[in-house]
Amino acid sequence: MTSEPFALQHPAAGPYEPLHTFHPRRSPLGRDRADALVRLWPGLGLAVHDETSWPRTPSGALDTATLFGRAAPLVLEIGPGMGEATAAMATQEPERDLLAVEVHLPGVAGLLLLVERAGLTNVRVGYGDALHLVRTGIEAGTLDEVRAFFPDPWPKARHHKRRLVAPDHVRLLVSRLRIGGLIRTATDWPSYAEQMRMVLAGDPGLEPVDEDRAGRPVTAFERKSAAAGRAAVDLRFRRVR
Ligand SMILES: C[S@@+](CC[C@H](N)C(=O)[O-])C[C@H]1O[C@@H](n2cnc3c(N)ncnc32)[C@H](O)[C@@H]1O
Repeated sequence: MTSEPFALQHPAAGPYEPLHTFHPRRSPLGRDRADALVRLWPGLGLAVHDETSWPRTPSGALDTATLFGRAAPLVLEIGPGMGEATAAMATQEPERDLLAVEVHLPGVAGLLLLVERAGLTNVRVGYGDALHLVRTGIEAGTLDEVRAFFPDPWPKARHHKRRLVAPDHVRLLVSRLRIGGLIRTATDWPSYAEQMRMVLAGDPGLEPVDEDRAGRPVTAFERKSAAAGRAAVDLRFRRVR
């Protein structure tokens, strides 16, 4: 197999996102995951940084109805990690389509395997920077929900500029939500939870719903942080205007 289709090209830093919310990492794939990419990517994968490979609407946005083969409420998950919770949620919600975008290739492959094992038809897996996809490919007002669970493993204040839940990113995500759509996030760091609350509450388009995990399965990251004694805080906000 050639690694070519999975070469991650970072978009040039634009005016809206001078820093990335992730550190590019290289990890060995292993045989099962490499094999999963070869078998499953053509039917289930989306090369986020190669727009020419996307099904596109006349306006040039990602044509999600063609991608999923149906028109259904669309959930975007940013950073599913290895995808266990993603696959569990997609199983619970067959009436919704779930586009999970991950920048870490073993996670992409891991989720593809879980999708295959569970026989899920409502999941597609993007490889690359989810914010790039949102900016370039998702039409305004079209998402039913945006999820980012434990998006940032960096608790230190000096990392705050890299955080996903930052005003510019939130404004971008809110613009792509339908009115009434939800943005959901979770963190295991109390200070980051506080910052997330402030940033989300500060967006003029959002109102708080509750701090309920609302059926969210335990994620792999959460399991590790719980073992280290840190409890998760969930936040749910709704687009109201
Ligand atoms: C701490 S992990 C949590 C993974 C998973 N949600 C869980 O709870 O187990 C954060 C994940 O978000 C991914 N990530 C961060 N920023 C991203 C972005 N802009 N686009 C896509 N993935 C991103 C990272 O690669 C990483 O896998």
